[in-house]
Amino acid sequence: MIANRRSVKPINMDSDKEITDGMWQTLIECANWAPSHNHTEPWRFTIFRGESRKHLAEALQEAYKVDTPEAEFKPEKYEKMGRNPLYAHAVMAIIASPGNLPKIPMVEEIAAVACAVQNMHLAASSAGLGMFWSSPAVASGENFAEFLKLGDDDKCLGLLYVGWPKEGREWPKSSRKPAMDKVVWK
Ligand SMILES: Cc1cc2nc3c(=O)[nH]c(=O)nc-3n(C[C@H](O)[C@H](O)[C@H](O)COP(=O)(O)O)c2cc1C
Repeated sequence: MIANRRSVKPINMDSDKEITDGMWQTLIECANWAPSHNHTEPWRFTIFRGESRKHLAEALQEAYKVDTPEAEFKPEKYEKMGRNPLYAHAVMAIIASPGNLPKIPMVEEIAAVACAVQNMHLAASSAGLGMFWSSPAVASGENFAEFLKLGDDDKCLGLLYVGWPKEGREWPKSSRKPAMDKVVWK
């Protein structure tokens, strides 16, 4: 199951194919079983479906326009930000909302949210549902935070695109460099 978890690009998703309430419940329950230091449970998700994906697309484009110096502005990137949310059936803003425990650093809260996303992604992949974590710079910027109505200490860690793969699409393949090369034994 772990080796078969794959990122499915939004362009390869069927935006119309429904995701049942039961599936949403499962995904969010799986996320909610993630570990967190001192049980801060800092994962929060704002889910855009249907028409609200258009508002999301517009907000991303607007944030990109405002946040990007003119010399670095890429029209194709701007266009892509407007299109991608509509390819998916739903888009989840991944948010880390830290508890007010001063001893827990933000990096640990972010790690806990990543665990929650991985739980959800594993559940999705095992059901054949596609997901894709995208982290454009604008997603963590102030402009987009305002759109999401985030609290002062909250941080958006990116967008999780969700949708069934288009009919006839093969489940993507991937590989990893050897696991043991990443270990130091003492
Ligand atoms: C925190 C995080 C941020 C990511 N951001 C991006 C991104 O901005 N653009 C992108 O193409 N992929 C992004 N990815 C997805 C990776 O491209 C993908 O996980 C990787 O290619 C491995 O493919 P797999 O998930 O199918 O194993 C991100 C993944 C993670 C965990």
